[in-house]
Amino acid sequence: MAQPVSEKPMVEIKSVVKAFGDVKAVNGVDAVIREGEFFSLLGPSGCGKTTLLRLIAGFEHPDSGAIVIAGSSMENVEPNERPTNMVLQSYAIFPHLNVEENVAYGLKKQGLSKADLKAKVDEMLGLVDLKGYNKRPAYALSGGQRQRVALARALIMKPKVLLLDEPLSALDKKLREQMQVELRSLQRTVGITFILVTHDQEEALTMSDRIAVMFDGQIAQLASPQDLYRRPKNQRIASFIGVMNFVQGQLLKIDSDALDVEAGPIGKVSIAPNQMPVPLPEGAVTIGIRPEMLTILFNDSDKAEIEVKGEIVETSYYGDMTYYSVRIDQIDEPVTVSMRNTSGRKVLDIGTKTRIGLGAESLVLLG
Ligand SMILES: Nc1ncnc2c1ncn2[C@@H]1O[C@H](COP(=O)(O)OP(=O)(O)O)[C@@H](O)[C@H]1O
Ligand SMILES: [Mg+2]
Repeated sequence: MAQPVSEKPMVEIKSVVKAFGDVKAVNGVDAVIREGEFFSLLGPSGCGKTTLLRLIAGFEHPDSGAIVIAGSSMENVEPNERPTNMVLQSYAIFPHLNVEENVAYGLKKQGLSKADLKAKVDEMLGLVDLKGYNKRPAYALSGGQRQRVALARALIMKPKVLLLDEPLSALDKKLREQMQVELRSLQRTVGITFILVTHDQEEALTMSDRIAVMFDGQIAQLASPQDLYRRPKNQRIASFIGVMNFVQGQLLKIDSDALDVEAGPIGKVSIAPNQMPVPLPEGAVTIGIRPEMLTILFNDSDKAEIEVKGEIVETSYYGDMTYYSVRIDQIDEPVTVSMRNTSGRKVLDIGTKTRIGLGAESLVLLG
């Protein structure tokens, strides 16, 4: 669970536009990132994430709009005078320097005593789990260790905001997952605002207090991981964050305390108003259902609130999970159903006729 974050604004992005020639890399972004928050910018390649991060850091300047950090306008404030620091995907550390020299690099000009400098370096190395690595040359470190040195080097400057541009994307899957946990726990320890750029939806979901999903230079939705996953505003967002089945239906009636929906074999159901994240008119609607909200009713005695009949047309076995494609009468595309492979549960063969169960609370109406 995410810990409560202060409501105090740390980074305010106000109607920011930045174009490169004809390309509007950032096309009118408004967002407030809070003090102590782990915030992610998530979106496909080219949607403007790096440009937005560089605008916050001061490496780019907005064509229009403004950026305010810790209450101060950043107009005409140079990158090195901003309370920010950036960590990049490529481990931008000096290979010919050792760990200690790399970490202390930004502090050299401050004229600290040797003992003070060493104390600060040791504290940072402890934080990133590299205690005792002071004299190790940077070229003799693994990818994960280099990224930790880069983090320590950024954090030793005590920035108010740490900007991270796909810092883990060069690491292999296992190490990346381990570093995700470490980075999140590091952020909690230091309490600094982190802004992470990533194209990896799982990374954003597991690490963030809040996520801004970006498409085409704009924020499509800004929400907590759970709200984003459960209540995506539209089909594009829903498909970008995990897998979503789309079923065509009718929104029959909108009341203040309930929505009446009808969809093919699902029949007529009543759902809660918050299952429609953006207001839609009565009439044709697209209904989203996540694969894990659908259940294969393996046994005759298995019951569900809503039951439909289907036939397995494809299976994908992942060890812990099986993903089924199931053809259901009156639904055009086969739906994806994910089932956990708990003990005694076999993988059904293609062609098996089965019942699928779901609950009305798992439906979401999408724009
Ligand atoms: N310095 C630049 N000159 C020209 N075009 C750029 C420059 N930086 C980014 N762009 C363009 O702006 C868009 C957004 O790029 P970027 O912010 O790097 O996206 P992301 O980080 O989400 O992949 C892309 O179309 C990219 O080609
Ligand atoms: Mg980028």
